[in-house]
Amino acid sequence: MIKKLVKLIIPAKVIFLTQSNLAFWCDIKRFTLHSNTYYKFNNPGKIKGHLTILYHIIEKGLTMPETRLGFGIKIIHELTDLCRFYLQNGFDTKDQIFIHSVEVLNEYLKYHELNNFSLDADILEGIKTISSIAGIDTCSSQYHFSNSMFFKYHQSSFIEFCKSRHSSRNFSKERIPIETIYQCIELANRSPSDCNRQPSRVYLIKNKERMLQVFELQNGNRGFGHLTNTLLVITSDISLFQGNERNEPFLNAGLFSMTLLYALHFHKIGACLLNWAASNSNDNKLRTLLQIPDNEQIAVLIACGYLPDEFKIAISPKLGAIEITHEII
Ligand SMILES: Cc1cc2nc3c(=O)[nH]c(=O)nc-3n(C[C@H](O)[C@H](O)[C@H](O)COP(=O)(O)O)c2cc1C
Repeated sequence: MIKKLVKLIIPAKVIFLTQSNLAFWCDIKRFTLHSNTYYKFNNPGKIKGHLTILYHIIEKGLTMPETRLGFGIKIIHELTDLCRFYLQNGFDTKDQIFIHSVEVLNEYLKYHELNNFSLDADILEGIKTISSIAGIDTCSSQYHFSNSMFFKYHQSSFIEFCKSRHSSRNFSKERIPIETIYQCIELANRSPSDCNRQPSRVYLIKNKERMLQVFELQNGNRGFGHLTNTLLVITSDISLFQGNERNEPFLNAGLFSMTLLYALHFHKIGACLLNWAASNSNDNKLRTLLQIPDNEQIAVLIACGYLPDEFKIAISPKLGAIEITHEII
């Protein structure tokens, strides 16, 4: 009865808009509760998420074009403390993420030993204690590629091609022809999109000064961003969506970006996605800088460049299908 009355008084479009706005609030609640921003220490899932963030920072440091000896001390402390906490709480020590975290700590020690760099005693002690308690004395070993090995499978079967793509964070000075970038964008737009609405847009930056201004606003390009030859900013046009489709602009941009990464790999161009998890203020600054209209959602950036003759790549190990799949009966 009340429902019928409400429907009579309030136009359907207003009801629908209110419902879809409510969904935004539900998103806020879910993210606040479950993201590891405010991680509860008794939740192994959140701890593993945080371990991954930390070990990946160290993996990146170990594979930078110029690794600085003694880098990342604060992160090493954080990672060691979190591993200790993981152990003290009796969480699964056979877990792949935990094992890799300890192996990355061990690799960090080994790297500094090989380079005759003395780390502080508390760092040494902390890492050695963790690996001894965990019973893990193996080291991870970041990839070292030659250009030809890296692109050996760029025209192979999908299985080999897919497995051979990695994020690269080291670029040569060689110029990428703009036509090649356009060919890649053309392929990227073969990606599926909601009702074929094709909302993805690309801001293509070749100007070095402009690129550096963008990098100032982004938090994941330290140590390699300046080597980028071409920077792509991927956005999604919100005006093509409606009602409950609030997450679709991002999803479409994600599919587009993945095809774009494969297209770049096919063309033997190295690439690294760069997050746009930016503050509102930085988001507005980037809009002003690149004249991105308000109806476009900035989704992600992609740093591109040809690769040098030799370079290192972060391992970034993957979970197996069994670990990430729920079979529903
Ligand atoms: C949405 C997104 C944002 C990312 N942002 C960054 C970033 O800011 N800096 C960076 O170095 N890598 C970034 N990456 C690359 C990831 O670190 C990388 O994809 C991951 O470690 C897996 O490695 P792989 O691409 O070699 O398989 C990002 C990846 C994604 C999907």
